[in-house]
Formats: sequence, structure tokens, C-alpha cells
Amino acid sequence: MFTQRWGSDALKYDAITDRYGECEHAILPMWVADMDVPPPVNVSQAVTEFFDAHYGYQIHNMGPAIVNWHQRRHQRVYEKEIVSCHSVIGAVKVLIESLTQKGDGIALFSPVYGPLVDVVRACEREPVLIPLNLARDIQSLNPDGALDHVAMIIVCNPQNPTGQLWPAAIINALANMCDRLQIPLVCDEVHSAFVYPQEQFYSALQLPVALRHTAIVVQSATKAYNLAHIPAASYMVIPNTQWHHLIGHTVAQCHLYAAPVSEISLVAAYSPTNDRWLEDVNRCIHDNRKLMEQGLSHTSLMPYINNATFFCWLDLHLVYPQERDVAKRLFSDTGIAGNDGASFGCPGWVRLNIATQQQTVDGALQRLQRLWKRL
Ligand SMILES: Cc1ncc(COP(=O)(O)O)c(C=O)c1O
Repeated sequence: MFTQRWGSDALKYDAITDRYGECEHAILPMWVADMDVPPPVNVSQAVTEFFDAHYGYQIHNMGPAIVNWHQRRHQRVYEKEIVSCHSVIGAVKVLIESLTQKGDGIALFSPVYGPLVDVVRACEREPVLIPLNLARDIQSLNPDGALDHVAMIIVCNPQNPTGQLWPAAIINALANMCDRLQIPLVCDEVHSAFVYPQEQFYSALQLPVALRHTAIVVQSATKAYNLAHIPAASYMVIPNTQWHHLIGHTVAQCHLYAAPVSEISLVAAYSPTNDRWLEDVNRCIHDNRKLMEQGLSHTSLMPYINNATFFCWLDLHLVYPQERDVAKRLFSDTGIAGNDGASFGCPGWVRLNIATQQQTVDGALQRLQRLWKRL
């Protein structure tokens, strides 16, 4: 189901030379976090019909589609808890500005999607970066009691870039801690639609009723349905009525809500008829991940076997011990274009996007194996 997108103005393909320079190898685009698969057809149909028949300010309600999408995933959402927003990072910015003060510490677990850290800094708050260790208990995530002094905790679940799911016990423990400290637990769950067979995603929307008020989930239809070109609507689920009121007011005041066409896209994408499409996409990604895992099992290149997302997180310290920009070096040596770990707070690593043709993943694998052999 995956295709190539050369010549289509896709950033992942047609901006490679600008970003990485020239290369003597055939290029394998595995960086930008979108997928090499057309979105479900009903989305472009819905958008076309919408443009044909509507203009000007609009009233649309995404509530029922959102509630139903989460219900199908055993997650509890009430329409009154939803606040729409034009983007996920825009939503996180509003949350930070509305619920914390300048100079406050905000905890994030590293390595993590760079713009989440950048937006904390842009709001003049202090990122408190805690090394991610999901294999253990909450104590390992709270070294020296660092979490006891922050004004907000931001969790990226599944984790971008490592592709790990957060265990339910840890999400519950964090929610308990946030409840005790009376601070928000903000969960960016935009990659939650990509979970491998036999794995369980535990959303903060599944927290016990007594803890729901402490969590805010940020979601979007853009990642799951490959709609960055529109983009589809983002939204927050805010069970805490006081916070909901405050955030809803700020979003409305600053016109930060999702545009009508984004809402139309979300409603079309979230249709139950697309559950099959998502399953097929997940199956292809999972096959690609198995290929990577098996092909690199004799190396130390892939220490995190991801159980979600369309990323593989590669440790290239042994291959390039002295290199500062590992992604660029990997590109010039092999033609593989990945994202440099430094942008996630982890130099020496590279994130590869495997939501692409198996042929591309296979090519990358062979080149990585050759690099390993040279050691
Ligand atoms: C974890 C995570 N959050 C947020 C975003 C960006 O979302 P948006 O473009 O809606 O701000 C991404 C994009 O890759 C992401 O991976």
C-alpha cells in the first residue's frame, strides 16, 4: 500500500538535497514524520464536497465523531470536554501559558519530540528533562524528586522518537502524583493509532474516574490518517471543568480553533469505515519493523524494539563515535535520510521513519548491515 512520492513536492522527498546535500548513493527518504500512503479516499471526497457547497464562517461539530472514535478504542470522552485547536503544538502552548507561570519548571521525558521542548522554552518556562526509562517503576522516572517541583508534566505516549508505549501503571502513578501536587498531566497521544498487534495502548482517557480531572489529552487526526497537507483538526480533551473553561476561552479569544475544512477532514477520517484502512497501514508498518528488528538483531544498532509508532530509533555511537551530525554522515555514507537524534535531545542516534515501501526499508537494512560489518 506504500508508494514513492518523488516529484510530488513532498517535503520528505523533494527537500532532501536542500536539507542533506548531494549524495552518490540512491536516496532512501526516511525522515519527516508522514507516511508514504494516500489518506483514506473519503477524506478527499469530503473536502471536495465541502469546498463545492460551503464558504465563509461555518458551524460544524466534531464532538460525536471524536467521542465515537475514542469509544471504539475503549477510551472515555465526553463532548463537553473537547476543545478544538489548529495544531498539537499550538494546543500545548496554550496549555502551558494558561496553566503555568513564567519561570516554572515543566517535566518532559527525554529523548522526546523536539518541538515539545522548544515550546516550553518559547513560553519562558524551564524544561526539566528526565531520562526516559519505561522498563522500571515511577521512582526511576523521578530521580531526586525532580517531579515534585514542576508545574506541569508532559508525556508523549507513544513516545516519539523511541516508539515505546507507556505502561498503564506509570501513567496511573504520574496521574496520582499530579493529583497530589495539583498540576496538569498533559499527554500528547498523537501517535496512539499506531500500535502493534498484541500490544496495548493505555490512554490517559482510561484513567480511573477519580484521576481523570488531572489529565489533559492532546490528539489530532493528522498523524493517524496522514493529513498533514490539510491539516486535519487537533483537539484537547480536558475533563477538569475549570481548566476546560480557561483553555476554551483562550482558544476562542485568539482564534486558535481548527478551521472548518480541518474539522470536515477529521470527521471523515474518524469514520468507522476507515478502521480497516488503519489496520492495513499498521500491518505494513509492523512488517517493516519486524524486518528491521530481525535484520539488526546481531548488532547493537536498534536497542529499542518499538511496540508502537512508525519509527525505529537507532544508536549509531559505535559506527560514528566522533561525529556531531550523525544523520548527515549516515546520509553521505549510505543515502539513508533519517532525523538526527540531537533534535530529540540525543546526539549519536538517528530516527528512521518506516511508514514506507518495504523495498526502502530493505535497502536501508542492507546498508546498515554493511556499516556494521565495517566495524
Ligand atoms: C509527538 C508529536 N506531537 C506533535 C506533533 C506535531 O503536531 P502539529 O503539527 O499538529 O503541531 C508531532 C509531529 O510529528 C509529534 O510527533
